[in-house]
Amino acid sequence: MRLLVTGAAGMLGHKVVAAAFAHEVTAADLAQCDLTDAEATAAYVEQVAPEAIVNCAAYTNVDAAEEHEDVALRVNADAAGNLARAGAAVGARIVHLSTDYVFDGSGSRPWVESDRPSPLGAYGRTKLAGERQVAVATPNHAIVRTAWLFGVGGPNFVDTMLRLAADRDEVAVVTDQTGCPTWTGHLAPALVALAGTDQVGVFHAGGDGQCTWNDLASETFSRAGVACHATPTTSAAFRRPAPRPAWSVLGTEREPGIHLPPWPEGLQGHLDDLKESA
Ligand SMILES: NC(=O)c1ccc[n+]([C@@H]2O[C@H](COP(=O)([O-])OP(=O)(O)OC[C@H]3O[C@@H](n4cnc5c(N)ncnc54)[C@H](OP(=O)(O)O)[C@@H]3O)[C@@H](O)[C@H]2O)c1
Repeated sequence: MRLLVTGAAGMLGHKVVAAAFAHEVTAADLAQCDLTDAEATAAYVEQVAPEAIVNCAAYTNVDAAEEHEDVALRVNADAAGNLARAGAAVGARIVHLSTDYVFDGSGSRPWVESDRPSPLGAYGRTKLAGERQVAVATPNHAIVRTAWLFGVGGPNFVDTMLRLAADRDEVAVVTDQTGCPTWTGHLAPALVALAGTDQVGVFHAGGDGQCTWNDLASETFSRAGVACHATPTTSAAFRRPAPRPAWSVLGTEREPGIHLPPWPEGLQGHLDDLKESA
């Protein structure tokens, strides 16, 4: 398969490029093509002539998006639309990444693909707009919502906890947000596999199981052999510019859906990756 991976310098994108070793891959990031430029994107995609595209490019700073929603919208929505249209023009299907932040976090059972999105903040609104632009641009799309992503090569919660633990013996971490931590090393091969199918529509893909951020911090410290304690706190006590959904567990109602391994296995995979790259 001739595969174009966009956002290839990002945390997920570079892992997708690695997972696609058996394919003819073109890795693109801002330096190769600014996806907010519709004409440049059309010309670039025409030249690469991919059979499939995995779009990992995004504006991912959730807090900054509250102040710069227009910028986030251009990348998360308009650029996604540009890329999907450019792909459609050369007959390429698109696998486009989205997020649990399209939901408002009010549930108590795993969110499934047909649940109604209702984002709490700017980042979620722009990602939902991106889903819609991609879906309008081409019927040959797979929109993959993932959550609580961590992996080598990008800022993520696990790395932040390890950094904080280096000079403290306790860190306050919220117990009132629940989700499914997802390792890029588990998600990336699933995206490549999906790119090679003709399955269309929305897909949920999170690490199997669920936990709170506090649980994830504790498990990180324990597996990394770090003498640090995750003390409980609440979202109300730990305010940030963008609201976070309380309930972000992703499930699937699709057959076949995407089923990733349990999140503790993903955490171990990431810790092993960190050791290797140290
Ligand atoms: N991280 C999470 O926890 C999480 C959770 C759920 C869903 N997701 C979704 O998963 C996907 C991948 O996330 P990630 O964390 O791997 O993102 P990331 O590390 O921030 O990577 C995104 C990449 O896109 C590039 N990019 C930004 N604007 C661009 C443009 N106009 N044209 C071309 N490339 C551009 C960025 O370049 P610069 O760095 O130079 O700007 C960066 O290399 C995104 O769709 C995100 O919304 C992430």
